[in-house]
Amino acid sequence: MVQDRGRYSIAFQATQTPAHFALVAAMAGHPWRPRARMTLLDIGCGRGHVVHVLAAANPEWSVFGLDIDSAAIAEARELAARAGLTNAFFLEADLATLDVAPLPHCDVMMAHGVWSWVGDAARSGLLAVLAQRLKPGGLAYLGTNARPGMDAEQPLQRLLRHLAGSDDLPGAERAMAALRGMMEAGGVPLPRTPMLARLLADPPLLEPAFVAHEFLTPHWRPDFHEDVCAALAPAKLDFLGSCNLVEALPALVCNEAQQALMATLPAGPEREFIKDLSLPRGFRADLFVRGARGVDRVTALDDIALAACIELPAEAPVLQTGIGRATLPEGAWAPLRAALARGPARIGALRALLPAETRPHPAELLALLVDSDIALPVFRATGSAPAADRFNRAAAEYHAADPAARGHFALAAPVAAGGLPADALDLSLVRTLLAGQVPDGDAARGRLAARLPVWRRFGIIGA
Ligand SMILES: C[S@@+](CC[C@H](N)C(=O)[O-])C[C@H]1O[C@@H](n2cnc3c(N)ncnc32)[C@H](O)[C@@H]1O
Repeated sequence: MVQDRGRYSIAFQATQTPAHFALVAAMAGHPWRPRARMTLLDIGCGRGHVVHVLAAANPEWSVFGLDIDSAAIAEARELAARAGLTNAFFLEADLATLDVAPLPHCDVMMAHGVWSWVGDAARSGLLAVLAQRLKPGGLAYLGTNARPGMDAEQPLQRLLRHLAGSDDLPGAERAMAALRGMMEAGGVPLPRTPMLARLLADPPLLEPAFVAHEFLTPHWRPDFHEDVCAALAPAKLDFLGSCNLVEALPALVCNEAQQALMATLPAGPEREFIKDLSLPRGFRADLFVRGARGVDRVTALDDIALAACIELPAEAPVLQTGIGRATLPEGAWAPLRAALARGPARIGALRALLPAETRPHPAELLALLVDSDIALPVFRATGSAPAADRFNRAAAEYHAADPAARGHFALAAPVAAGGLPADALDLSLVRTLLAGQVPDGDAARGRLAARLPVWRRFGIIGA
């Protein structure tokens, strides 16, 4: 029986899109670009927001979502129908008993938040889909809980399961209340982990539905990255890199001792393990390829075009890294900022604006601009985008009508072949603009002044 764990919040991750995968591939010196026509599958798609956004931004792609949760699939289908998305398809299926035969052969597959939360039978089903339905040269994205970063959370998960008594939403509510009472009454000696801090915050920073999905499943367990790689090897998948771009730059994420240790190990999963030991993070977002090929890394990186996705700050961006903060050399930001303000620019062209002695490596510049949420990759020119308009309007109306709507939304952005993160005010502004109306109120007008040039640049609002 499928447990009712409540509605999992919508969580669009810009790093879970083919556009971003092109950057990860370039970081690894692998030639990959989103093509005009592609087939994608989001495994464990939940309520389908990623599928909707990608289908709306790329009308020539066929985007499939698969999930065991009937309510989530019904909701995903309903919004796709309202938005007239004829290239978004949703399948209700259990990975543990899945028949792979009816599934399409895919260029890209994604599974965000699935691997670490399902049992062995479902993992086998996921591996079968990857092995039998990912085309040669295809990309697979996996978002997992990693060891040792998540190890310390295991006693909390076990205690929550005992306190819940059932794997569902009421169980999560019971467990959260009992945990709070127990800790206020003197507490049990649980490790002081990030999850515990978020649960004990007032009000709690985690929703009961999130706790039910993340922690009440009996299967949850973090893995060592190299064990995930070994499990994927029979599907002929090679590790390409982390979707957190800065992690491709060991000098920015590891201290000298850690780098020295890394240098003694073979490139790939063994070296990644040193990053897992060094970085305080429990979640990994990784890209794999069915058949890695090498190209010149600098050329591949220099060829990537970026556009500003926020109002550009006056100060140079600063990126928090594993060993401190990374930024640009003195004086480098002003010319880069001016170029990005004019429109999309290639990494190579941006670097050429700087004198040789202060010119960053293209990997550093790319990581700095993308990981600090200043820029997104650009793959198309602006133009009319009726599917994106229809979806952005339908999504804004749909979520505005749902008082329980929470999460990380995105607007379909055809120029980026993906989505631009958006909150409730952004959605309502886009809805107003697409209806040909003028937003009301100072807060709305202030936000609009900052967003409109970006939305025009990315094809969300017509020029
Ligand atoms: C943690 S949620 C992630 C949802 C979505 N990918 C996201 O990032 O927001 C995991 C999803 O996997 C689905 N799932 C769990 N077990 C499954 C199974 N055996 N077969 C198919 N889907 C499953 C759940 O229903 C849920 O929607």
